[in-house]
Amino acid sequence: MKSTNETSKTSRREFVKQSSMMAGGLLAAPLMSHAGYFNSVDDTIKVAVIGCGGRGTGAAMQALLTKQNVKLVAMADAFRDRLDECFNALTDENNEEGNVKSKVTVTEATKFVGFDGYLKAIPLADVVILTTPPGFRPIHFAEAVKQGKHVFMEKPVATDPAGVKKVLETAEIAKQKKLNVVVGLQRHYQNSYRELYKRVQDGMIGDLTSGQVYWNSDGVWVKMREKNQTEMEYQMRNWYYFNWLCGDHINEQHIHNIDVMNWFKGGYPVKAQGMGGRQARTGKDFGEIYDHHFVEFQYADGSIMNSQCRHIKGTYSIVDETLVGTKGTVKCGAAQIVHKGKTLYQYDKKLENNPYQSEHDELFAAIAKGEYKFADADNGAKATMTAIMGRMATYSGEVMEWDKVLNSGISIMPTKFAWDANPPTLPDANGLYPIATPGLTKYFS
Ligand SMILES: NC(=O)c1ccc[n+]([C@@H]2O[C@H](COP(=O)([O-])OP(=O)(O)OC[C@H]3O[C@@H](n4cnc5c(N)ncnc54)[C@H](O)[C@@H]3O)[C@@H](O)[C@H]2O)c1
Repeated sequence: MKSTNETSKTSRREFVKQSSMMAGGLLAAPLMSHAGYFNSVDDTIKVAVIGCGGRGTGAAMQALLTKQNVKLVAMADAFRDRLDECFNALTDENNEEGNVKSKVTVTEATKFVGFDGYLKAIPLADVVILTTPPGFRPIHFAEAVKQGKHVFMEKPVATDPAGVKKVLETAEIAKQKKLNVVVGLQRHYQNSYRELYKRVQDGMIGDLTSGQVYWNSDGVWVKMREKNQTEMEYQMRNWYYFNWLCGDHINEQHIHNIDVMNWFKGGYPVKAQGMGGRQARTGKDFGEIYDHHFVEFQYADGSIMNSQCRHIKGTYSIVDETLVGTKGTVKCGAAQIVHKGKTLYQYDKKLENNPYQSEHDELFAAIAKGEYKFADADNGAKATMTAIMGRMATYSGEVMEWDKVLNSGISIMPTKFAWDANPPTLPDANGLYPIATPGLTKYFS
């Protein structure tokens, strides 16, 4: 469906083009000007997807399913086979999610493979979808904003403190340029969470004094090493198990639950201490990450978030958040607020939306109207920082303090991205990687 009037088409195009021109330093006029620099009635919003895996495919589909005139014009992936799978899914007329084939205008010339594909895809778009493993996010986000693009990027947005710092700096530039940025912490776009949040803001639970947040599950996929792979290719394929790419599952998945407590609390923890390890998932196929973490995060007012995440098959599964206040308790999964056996509020789950779709609906509607509405990167970076601080606490067994960690400059990223370059962690003769050991792993001494 197209925009209904010419004025909004023109102003949207101005908004998109002016954002891009600002990036090149060519235009000093107010971004939201309706002075009519452009008379084009073309209301196409051009999208590029960087990282064409499961989520890249899903997010591109959701962008194309919004009511705006969105076209996918460019794709970039480290690997050609992943890009092809994504292209095939998006151009499949029988795709269960919807038939968006006519909205995919990607050609061979706009498919880019390798580490630097993002540099070629970003210039072709108005909006960039960043869905690689999170280690690359700070680099890709900085480039997208430098080029004046609106952004949808997945969580987490980094894997180390240096990456978080870079995203925070880029978030500021995005604000100055009035570029909309949505981060895929989709609970912020989910009706039940929004209703619960409103009630907490209105005082229904009094002061939020503690929380229990969980991502306990069986774990995720594993990609076996194949013959003739370089170490870099192996780690890029089996990325979940390497910290420079993934940040451990406390960052990769549990960030969602940690983020909810921060959001409802209205702030970020000042310190963290915890414990964790690798007990069940110990083989060489599982890289260097832990299979469980339990962290006690403390906020400035002394309140506590207990966070647990586990990837161990055959154990109790729970992905949820419970937020305890002086006058009530929020049970996010059940979408209710209770106190002393009484239900103070129950969200009608029949009204629940698909937050993955809503985040795109809202982002693209804002862009189509020429509105600057979304600045999620700052919270995305700080949610990521919280999870990384938790990981550093469990790896070291020491107390981690927010300011010290954030300003530490610690980077775990490679210095060179090439298939024959060495990643930052390497296996021993038995194929096993060094594992962080509390008491021995030190960050500040
Ligand atoms: N919000 C959510 O609920 C949700 C759900 C799933 C995934 N995600 C996030 O989406 C991101 C991707 O996860 P996924 O499940 O799609 O993984 P995936 O492995 O399916 O896809 C990642 C893709 O990125 C590509 N890639 C890696 N490095 C690249 C680079 N430098 N340049 C270009 N492409 C590169 C890979 O080849 C792969 O195709 C992660 O950050 C993950 O946390 C979020």
